Amino acid sequence: GKLTINTQQKGTPLGDLFGIFFEDLNHAADGGLYAELVRNRSFEFDPIDHPDYRALTGWEKIERGAGKATLTVEDAHPINDRNTHYAAIDIIEAGDGVGIANQGFNTGIPVRAGEQYRFSVYARRDASFAEPVRIAVESEDGTVRAEAVIQVESAEWKRYETVLAASATDFGSWLTIVTGGTGKLYLDMVSLFPAKTFRDRPNGLRADIAQLLGDLKPKFMRFPGGCLVHDGSLNAEDRDSMYRWKNTIGDVAQRPPRRNNWRYHQTLGLGYYEYFQFCEDIGAKPIPILPAGYDPHHKRIVPIEALGPWIDDALDLIEFANGDASTEWGSIRAKLGHPAPFNLEYIGIGNEEVGAPFFERYAHFHKAIKDKHPAIKIINSSGPFAAGGEYERGWRSARENGSDLVDEHYYQSPEWFLANVRRYDSFKSEEPKVFLGEYASWGNAYLNALAEAAFMTGLERSAHAVGLACYAPLLCNVDYVNWKPDLIWFNNREAFGTANYYVQQLFMHHQGDYLLPVEASGLKPSEPYREVTPIRGGIGFGANANVVEYTSIRLINHATGETLSFADTAFDRTGAGDKQTAMLGATHWEDYTLSLKAKKTDGGQWGFAVYFDWADDRQ
Ligand code: AHR
Repeated sequence: GKLTINTQQKGTPLGDLFGIFFEDLNHAADGGLYAELVRNRSFEFDPIDHPDYRALTGWEKIERGAGKATLTVEDAHPINDRNTHYAAIDIIEAGDGVGIANQGFNTGIPVRAGEQYRFSVYARRDASFAEPVRIAVESEDGTVRAEAVIQVESAEWKRYETVLAASATDFGSWLTIVTGGTGKLYLDMVSLFPAKTFRDRPNGLRADIAQLLGDLKPKFMRFPGGCLVHDGSLNAEDRDSMYRWKNTIGDVAQRPPRRNNWRYHQTLGLGYYEYFQFCEDIGAKPIPILPAGYDPHHKRIVPIEALGPWIDDALDLIEFANGDASTEWGSIRAKLGHPAPFNLEYIGIGNEEVGAPFFERYAHFHKAIKDKHPAIKIINSSGPFAAGGEYERGWRSARENGSDLVDEHYYQSPEWFLANVRRYDSFKSEEPKVFLGEYASWGNAYLNALAEAAFMTGLERSAHAVGLACYAPLLCNVDYVNWKPDLIWFNNREAFGTANYYVQQLFMHHQGDYLLPVEASGLKPSEPYREVTPIRGGIGFGANANVVEYTSIRLINHATGETLSFADTAFDRTGAGDKQTAMLGATHWEDYTLSLKAKKTDGGQWGFAVYFDWADDRQ
């Protein structure tokens, strides 16, 4: 056989095809890419973030020898009204030293021999306290790895900083703040950063993880989520507010604490300025995703007439990124240290939205952005991939509004990826382009990586229809797992790429500029892959409302139109996990719709899960 590649005739441009998607889940930011080593630095952890969290989570009191102190968290005289909690140490007996210690993330605070660490803290004292305060990194048994001393001079909040040099390597140490004398000492924003961050940025990123991301050579980076963007309350002042970018810039002490929907606390120390800076540093185009005033998880909806500030967030963000210093938001960016624009080209409205309220609101965002910034490419959203329903609604909305791209998401088996290599061949070039904003096969094994590689050849071949694609999720701290598989795994001392990572890297390093015409002669085209392993099993579902009455449950096969009914439709159930199962007996991938009519007969919460029960050991 013979393949002839015509290098003179340029086909479809490949543009910005392959990039990355960053979301702060799995402690990807705090305890991950964001280089801060202190966990709960501002004493703002709260049960709203996670039922186990308290203001002193991550902290312990130190009382050495006869030392005696009380350690409380107060909020009467905060450093500002966005960061209201601080530690109050009332030293009753100095003994051999009293104070507090932070255990950091994973196994502890990691330090390396010969490296320097920047410590900073906001502190004040009462008149009776005049002792020096010793800052140290200490091993579990008290061996000192690094130390420095500060003198708290004032009864007013003041920021102090010093540099610690580590004399030994220890990945399980504690940051200790210890003093003598008696009286009261108050502390807030206790921070320790490696002096060496990625590109030496202040408030910067962990060098090894950032380097792994930069080494991919991604064309773009989508951020900051994910469900993290739209899951939250409508008031930007609330600590469980949706992700509002204006809360994430400027002095870190002024950034409000935030509940991360992945059930932990988010400092917002890694904020929009840092995201833009990082994108620039690694040569990736920034793709911010904004909430559209609709939380599909809790059905919180901004009334259309109140949408103004939400749309302003999008317009102001574009000005923040691209405006010159004479504009309001461009001047803020310049004051933060970046007079040159960040050259924003894309913006996403919504993430994986389900429901008419989103699409109604999207139209308002779209018009306002295009009126003011016609060159900005706008990404619409579709529901999680499934035949029919919300996914189709996303595409309809994109066509009606003239969106530049539609964000599709799917997590599927490797077999599905192999069987769908040609998924986009039939998509039309004149339609909105696909932004494959999240995809992965279920696993980090070689088979998964290979199936994704095969699929990515299809994305390249269909560049007429696919504009952007990024694997998800990107990062996972091994001790705080919300979701797997992930592209890169790390703990507090090292980070490594999976087989999937090296596939992404291969495609990013070798992304061409244009498709070139290829002629094949004497070659037999391969048959499209079909998943042929018999799937013996069924589909079931359960409800976690206390009592639910089902009046109709049907499973419809899209290809054949066949309807499978469930045996028992009139039953009451208590508790989660009750299942009804219908047998499918499918031998290859088929699309089904599960349709049910149900009535909740108590005041409990709705919550449905669909189960796939395999008769054998398949996952
Ligand atoms: O990537 C993990 C999650 O998957 C994202 O937050 C969400 O968009 C999707 O459901």
